Amino acid sequence: MTDPGERLRSNLAADQGVGEFDSPIAMEAMRATRVLHAADQEPFPAPGRIRVITVANQKGGVGKTTSTVNLGVALAMYGLRTLVIDLDPQGNTSTALGVEHTVGTPSIYDALVSDATLAEVTHPTTASPLLTCVPATIDLAGAEIELVSVVAREHRLRRSIEAFLHEVPVEQRPHYVLIDCPPSLGLLTLNALVAGDEVLIPIQCEYYALEGLGQLLSNIDLVRAHLNPGISVSTILLTMYDGRTKLADQVADEVRNHFGELVLAAVIPRNVRVSEAPGYGQSVLTYDPGSRGATAYVEAAKELAHRGVALAPAAPATVAPPPVPTAAPPPPPPPVAALVLGESVPPAPRRHTP
Ligand SMILES: Nc1ncnc2c1ncn2[C@@H]1O[C@H](COP(=O)(O)OP(=O)(O)O)[C@@H](O)[C@H]1O
Ligand SMILES: [Mg+2]
Repeated sequence: MTDPGERLRSNLAADQGVGEFDSPIAMEAMRATRVLHAADQEPFPAPGRIRVITVANQKGGVGKTTSTVNLGVALAMYGLRTLVIDLDPQGNTSTALGVEHTVGTPSIYDALVSDATLAEVTHPTTASPLLTCVPATIDLAGAEIELVSVVAREHRLRRSIEAFLHEVPVEQRPHYVLIDCPPSLGLLTLNALVAGDEVLIPIQCEYYALEGLGQLLSNIDLVRAHLNPGISVSTILLTMYDGRTKLADQVADEVRNHFGELVLAAVIPRNVRVSEAPGYGQSVLTYDPGSRGATAYVEAAKELAHRGVALAPAAPATVAPPPVPTAAPPPPPPPVAALVLGESVPPAPRRHTP
């Protein structure tokens, strides 16, 4: 047994929680081994249908980008094909995934404003072969204005994603599409809300955490009423939790009282490794897999994945998810005609109401 990871794991199995392995360093090593050897572990279960999740909160600095990146990497590391779409002109998601986003790089701007297909602007990432990314360049800053005169301007992203899912061979279709929104409620965020089935709201465990959330929720209601009947808030993720402060607990309790089961049990701690990782063009899972931040994001992604299993299979207007890599042969694709959303036909609700 020459592989050090293998050796460490078998030692840990033998000495579980006792003796020399019951130290902070050994625990960190064990966590790192778990994350680094994700491929050897049980893959996360595939969702009942492709999940298009919009990560939104009009407040800046609450962990939208960090959560999109790290949940995306965790889902991919544990076997689920994931596409991350950067919809913030700052391009921080692209940076954190090590994807080029200088002016001129094929990006989400080209898909929204010009007529590039999503496939043409999708880039591989180094984090995982199952993770791809559509980057955002600074050009996107002008898109809010440029889109104003475009036909069906709120539906641009949705159309783009639908066409992509329709075109791409079943074995390459993502199980998850995560969309990182800018910190505003403008036309870009609106596009993301029209494109998604679900909204994931990261909430920072700090003062004023809930401030402005009412506005986001009423915007989601408006979108549901007029543009996308299938959208709803499915997930709340508590971020930057600092266990040393009473305030963090108070905010977490308040959020749980208000949103109940929507709140993931996994909480993301404030952890310096999380904030360092993007500087190296990495997620925290690859930058420091033994950190508490990495473990928390794996836990959150696992919970997200398990919640997705019960979702109803794709309605006729959408496509079925591909199988996980280890699973049985793919089901036949749905009839082509059923996949195309017509201009005048309102999209069928894609969300299952239990
Ligand atoms: N769990 C965390 N621990 C420490 N720093 C964090 C954590 N999550 C995010 N950050 C840092 O907080 C800042 C804002 O996070 P970010 O994800 O960019 O927020 P948003 O996309 O909502 O504006 C970034 O500098 C990021 O590195
Ligand atoms: Mg951001």
